[in-house]
Amino acid sequence: MANELKEKILFVDDEETILNVASEFFQRRGYQTLTAGSGAEALRILENESVDCCFTDINMPEMNGIDLAEEIRRIDNTLPVIIMTGFPSLDNAVQTIKNGVVDFLTKPVTMKQMELSVRRVMEQRRLLAENVVLKQEVEGKARLQKLNQELVLKVEELHVLNKIMSSFSTISSTTDVFKRAVDMGIDIVPADETKFYVINESVKQPIEVASAKNGEKRSLQQQLEGAECFPETKPKNRPTENTSFSTNLLMEVAEDSIPLLIAENTNANGLPESILSAMLVPVKIRDKVFGILMAEVHEGEKRFTEKDLYYLSFMTQSAAHTIENLALYENIYQNLFATLYAFVNALEARDLYTRQHSSRVTGISLILGKKLGCTREQINILNFAGHLHDIGKIGIRDDILLKPGRLSTEEFEKIKEHPVIGANILEQLGLWENERLIIRCHHERFDGTGYPDGLKQTEIPFLARILSVADVYDAIASDRAYRKKMEESVILKIMSEGSGSQFDPDIIAAFMQAYKDGLIQKYMQTGQIHT
Ligand SMILES: [Fe+2]
Repeated sequence: MANELKEKILFVDDEETILNVASEFFQRRGYQTLTAGSGAEALRILENESVDCCFTDINMPEMNGIDLAEEIRRIDNTLPVIIMTGFPSLDNAVQTIKNGVVDFLTKPVTMKQMELSVRRVMEQRRLLAENVVLKQEVEGKARLQKLNQELVLKVEELHVLNKIMSSFSTISSTTDVFKRAVDMGIDIVPADETKFYVINESVKQPIEVASAKNGEKRSLQQQLEGAECFPETKPKNRPTENTSFSTNLLMEVAEDSIPLLIAENTNANGLPESILSAMLVPVKIRDKVFGILMAEVHEGEKRFTEKDLYYLSFMTQSAAHTIENLALYENIYQNLFATLYAFVNALEARDLYTRQHSSRVTGISLILGKKLGCTREQINILNFAGHLHDIGKIGIRDDILLKPGRLSTEEFEKIKEHPVIGANILEQLGLWENERLIIRCHHERFDGTGYPDGLKQTEIPFLARILSVADVYDAIASDRAYRKKMEESVILKIMSEGSGSQFDPDIIAAFMQAYKDGLIQKYMQTGQIHT
C-alpha cells in the first residue's frame, strides 16, 4: 500500500520510550506514525500534516492532554483524539469527552488495546464521513428532484404561455378577442365557467360580452356581430343572474385594478354560493381597466391557486395587447387608406368627367358583390380596392392623363401602366395583398385580351372581375371629355355584348338583374346603395 494511502497516527507523550514502542508497533501494523514529545510539538506537526488519529498522554508538562484535545478540536473537530492516563478520574473523563475526545484508555495500555481503539475510532470516523457524503447525496438528490420538478413546471408554464401568445397572435378582429379570452380561460385554468365583462363607463355597470363553459364552449360573441370595436360594443344580452350578485365585486376589482383570487368562497365577497372558487382579473389598456375576466369553479374539489391567477393574468394581458395592437393597426390602416383615397380624389377632381368615378365604381361593385353573395371580408376588400383602383394614375403624366379627346397608341400604352403602378404603390407599403391583386387586374378581360398580364377567366381574381364590370359601366354611363353620356339601351347593349369576351358572364347576369331591380339606376341617381 502506498504511504499516502496508509492511515496516519500521531502519538504525543513526554516519555520517549512509549513513543518509540507505540510507533514501532503501529508501523508494523501498516500505519504511518508521527511522534511528538509535547502538546506544543503536536500542534506544530498538525499544522503541516494531515493526521487520521491522535493518541495523547494526559499528564504532560506545559500542555496536558486535555488542553491539547481542546486545541485539536478547535483546529479540526473531525480528528479523533484518544487519551491515555495513568490516573483516571471521573472529572478527567467528563472533561475529555467535553473536549471531543473519542476514547479514553487507562495505563498501563497494551498495544493490542491501542490498536482496537484506533480501529474503533477510525471506523466511527469512516461512518461519519460516509454519513456526511450520504447526507450530501440525499440532499443532492432532493435538490435535483426539486430542480426537475421546477423544470417540469417551467416547461408546462412556457407551454401555457406560448399557447396564450400564439392563440392571440392569430386574431384579426377586436371582437374575437373576448371570445378567445373566455375559451382560453377554460383551457388554461380548471374553471367550470369563464366570463368576460366590459366595464362600461357611461352606465357604470359590468356587461357580460362573452362566456364559455367547460365541456360546452358557449360564447355570446355572435351577439356582438356588427359591433366594430370597444368601447362602442353594445351586446344585446341582458346581464346574467350572476352579474347582479357580482356587480359590486366586479366594480371593486375594476377600481382597485388588481387581480383577485378567491380560493375558497366564504360568502364574504358577495359571490353566490354556487361559486366555490373564483378569480377576477382586470383587463387594462394603458393602465385603464376596460374589462374583467372572471373564472368560476362550480363543483368538485378543485380550487384556484396563485398559479392559476398568474396564468389568467398573463392571458388577459395578452388579450389587452392584442386589442391595443388591433386598434392601432385599424387606426393606421384607416389613416393610410384615407391618405391614399385623398390622392385619388384629388386626381379625379381635376377632370370634371372623372370626378367621383372611383367612388361610383365602388358603389356599383358593392351592389354586384352583394348580389353575387360575397362574404363580409370580400365586400370590405371590394370597398377598399374600388376606391383605390386607379391610384396608379398618379404616376401618369398630366398631359396624357388630362388630354381631351382620343389618345395616341403611345399615350394609351402609358395609361395602361396604371394598374401596375397602383399595385406597386400598395406593395411598397407592404399591405393589402388581396386588394393589391385586384387593383393590378382590374383591366384584365375575361377572354384574356386585357392588360397588364393577359389573364383569362378564373385566372382573374373574382373581385377584379366584378370591379371590371363596374368600372366599364361607370365609364360609359358617365359623360366623357370626348363624348356625351350614352343612351341607356346602348349602355346595356355594350354590357351585354361584353359577356364572355370582356366580362365574366355570371357577373354580367348579376349586373343585368341588379339593373332590372333598379338598384344600379337608384345608386347612380342618389349615391345610396339599396339592396
Ligand atoms: Fe382603371
